[in-house]
Amino acid sequence: MSSLPHPEPISGANYSAAELTLANDAVILLDQRLLPSREEYVLFRDVPALIEAIRSMVVRGAPAIGIAAAYGLVVGARTVSSEAEFQRVAEAIASARPTAVNLRWAIERCIRAVKAAKVTDYAEIIAQEARAIHREDVAACREMGRLGAAYIPDGGTVLTHCNAGALATGGYGTALGVIRGAVEAGKKVRVLADETRPLQQGGRLTAWELAKDGIAVEVIADSSAGWFMARGEIQAAVVGSDRIAANGDVANKIGTYQVAVNARAHNIPFYVAAPWSTVDLSCPSGADIPIEERAASELTQRGDVRVVPTDVGVRNPAFDVTPARLVTAIFCERGVIREVSATGLSQLT
Ligand code: MRU
Repeated sequence: MSSLPHPEPISGANYSAAELTLANDAVILLDQRLLPSREEYVLFRDVPALIEAIRSMVVRGAPAIGIAAAYGLVVGARTVSSEAEFQRVAEAIASARPTAVNLRWAIERCIRAVKAAKVTDYAEIIAQEARAIHREDVAACREMGRLGAAYIPDGGTVLTHCNAGALATGGYGTALGVIRGAVEAGKKVRVLADETRPLQQGGRLTAWELAKDGIAVEVIADSSAGWFMARGEIQAAVVGSDRIAANGDVANKIGTYQVAVNARAHNIPFYVAAPWSTVDLSCPSGADIPIEERAASELTQRGDVRVVPTDVGVRNPAFDVTPARLVTAIFCERGVIREVSATGLSQLT
């Protein structure tokens, strides 16, 4: 279906990455693989299909896959017949993708809610918790957006990488939330969106949602960001994150690290916007963050056309790690971390 089939979306917009039906019987996902050509919603009523949707990036972006996972657990809880089966379903959803910590975080939070409630109607308890996760994520995005907006120069151009917007979260967005916050505060902001090879989250998704909001955006090739910085055309970079380690190292979409290196070389602030659910204090440093390797076909194919010789190997890590020393500040709903380090993060615990 081509319009959001939900009367009161928690996203707070007329589109949403993930919602749960009012009857708690299906997860509604906007198929992001089809954007910007088509806005199409799909209903998921079983867990294997939902897991495949997360893997194949029907839904993507760290907070959004956490929310979709929690909603998926509601659907799963309606069908399981034993505690052991419930645990297996929960583990299967939590391991659908490895890098974004929000996925496992959301599932573990739902399991804790079930244990604390000591009731047999798991689905109802999980539905309440999952909706709370969704609501809190939107509120967190708005708050980090409000805090981060103060750091965006009026009249400036902001570079962003991948899509850390409403489509990647419960709604409003993290990095794009900061840009929205700046615009709502009355600042004039232009955005350069890295196209984000190989799956074009910047070119397809960031451009789609900013254009919908009437925010000035232009798409650039990833490889041109350094050149635009050298020409003085970028005043700040803002990105999201899939996992922030205890020492402040930041995992995000592949290509983020080279944005940070370029920003440092050109004396441009490099900001990360993320909810506290993305901070993983059990992960000592970026070296401990699992990095997803995705299919070679994402690089070897353009549609049906093969663009890499058949006898040549391919490396396709989906994320990289930016060391804390390259991050100017982290915007979070708990506050702004100006000293990006274990000490700085521990001040918000
Ligand atoms: O592979 P994706 O599209 O799920 O990667 C998403 C990103 O890297 C985002 O920048 C990150 O999840 C932050 S979303 C608020």
